[in-house]
Amino acid sequence: IDTASKFKVKDISLAEWGRKEIKLAEAEMPGLMSLREEYGQSKPLAGARIAGCLHMTIQTAVLIETLLELGAEVTWSSCNIFSTQDHAAAAIAQANIPVYAWKGMNETEFDWCIEQTLFAFEGGKPLNMILDDGGDLTNMVLDRYPELVKDIKGLSEETTTGVHRLQEREEKGTLPMPAINVNDSVTKSKFDNKYGCKESLVDAIRRATDVMMAGKVALVAGYGDVGKGSAASLKGAGARVIVTEIDPICALQAAMDGFEVKKMDNGVAEADIIVTTTGNKDIVVGRHFEKMKDKAIVCNIGHFDNEIDVSWLNSNAKKTEIKPQVDLYELNGKEIILLAEGRLVNLGCATGHPSFVMSNSFTNQTLAQIELWTNNDAYENKVYMLPKHLDEKVARLHLSKIGVELDVLSADQAEYIGVTPEGPYKPEYYRY
Ligand code: NAI
Repeated sequence: IDTASKFKVKDISLAEWGRKEIKLAEAEMPGLMSLREEYGQSKPLAGARIAGCLHMTIQTAVLIETLLELGAEVTWSSCNIFSTQDHAAAAIAQANIPVYAWKGMNETEFDWCIEQTLFAFEGGKPLNMILDDGGDLTNMVLDRYPELVKDIKGLSEETTTGVHRLQEREEKGTLPMPAINVNDSVTKSKFDNKYGCKESLVDAIRRATDVMMAGKVALVAGYGDVGKGSAASLKGAGARVIVTEIDPICALQAAMDGFEVKKMDNGVAEADIIVTTTGNKDIVVGRHFEKMKDKAIVCNIGHFDNEIDVSWLNSNAKKTEIKPQVDLYELNGKEIILLAEGRLVNLGCATGHPSFVMSNSFTNQTLAQIELWTNNDAYENKVYMLPKHLDEKVARLHLSKIGVELDVLSADQAEYIGVTPEGPYKPEYYRY
């Protein structure tokens, strides 16, 4: 097959615009760019055929081209039907990288796209590494193409929900390859999930609705990393924020951060904006819709679309599309506005997290791929995390871009607190 024709994107003529934005993003992604400098000559990923399934955005394009620069062959699909930035996908296709992604595909096309990435390498060879976000690619390979598993050295997983799926497999003994949990690197979940959502949640609600947020009541379900960033985002926009939680520790954190904490059944009637962030299912269901205010805006920023019972709305309310990814539902004389059909709103209605924070996440992803590819014998079929010295390295690579000066421990001080001047600086159990 002609490599040049191995892609399916919305509009290849968007490639030039995509390329210009990729160039801008590179300047905001110092972690990835310094990995290109460090490893561009030695090409530690030579021989790796990485199939990736992760939101096909401008930031992801910088990740893909970093993996290439380090010697890998790469194929790509997006892990959500609404999250592709078509100009980013076009630029990647233009660069002759097999990519199957466009904004607004259907579920059948979604599976088809992932499937294409398994075999689109030079000479029709199959993948030998997985880079995943949410586990859909992993599930496709493990459940539908088990014959491919023997050649795959390992997988790295980007998000909380995908890591849960991997941990279930490890417990059941059905994880057939080593995996690195990228999500729980401190420089991923305590930055992307938190500060990323802090910027991208309100961005999405504004692009979708243009609603005035100051003075409104917002309800955030879940106060984990994504919930903390989401609540901060809404508070920063001037909304009064109510949080719901099931975990007493996170509920106490929310209260002490100054938020009201209520049960969903009690808070939902007051809210103008309702956001789910739990990674759990059935958070907003029929009885909650019935209690909502007129023109309440409902959206989800968790990985999957099962947090909000959209099928209940579709069966019980009359739907009118206002614009793509913004729907109005008429229910008992009230109107409810649903964003991105209940799929993750920051990628459906906006463009996901900014480049700088994604550089942290994707530097972890790249290090995980290098580690699994070059040091494979050291790993069993378990879920691992990157060592703390690499987590600290990722952070260090991002300091100078934002003018951070770091103090340096003297040998005497280091000895006093029981570390070395080069780090790691904290024990494994430290929570940041
Ligand atoms: P987390 O585990 O830190 O937080 C989830 C919180 O929800 C926990 O505190 C949990 O106690 C709470 N929760 C669970 N069930 C609940 C219920 N019924 N009612 C109220 N609260 C409940 O997970 P994290 O990292 O915050 O991720 C959440 C979701 O967001 C995951 O699906 C993850 O994959 C996704 N994610 C999305 C991103 C985006 O850009 N849209 C970025 C990063 C993660």
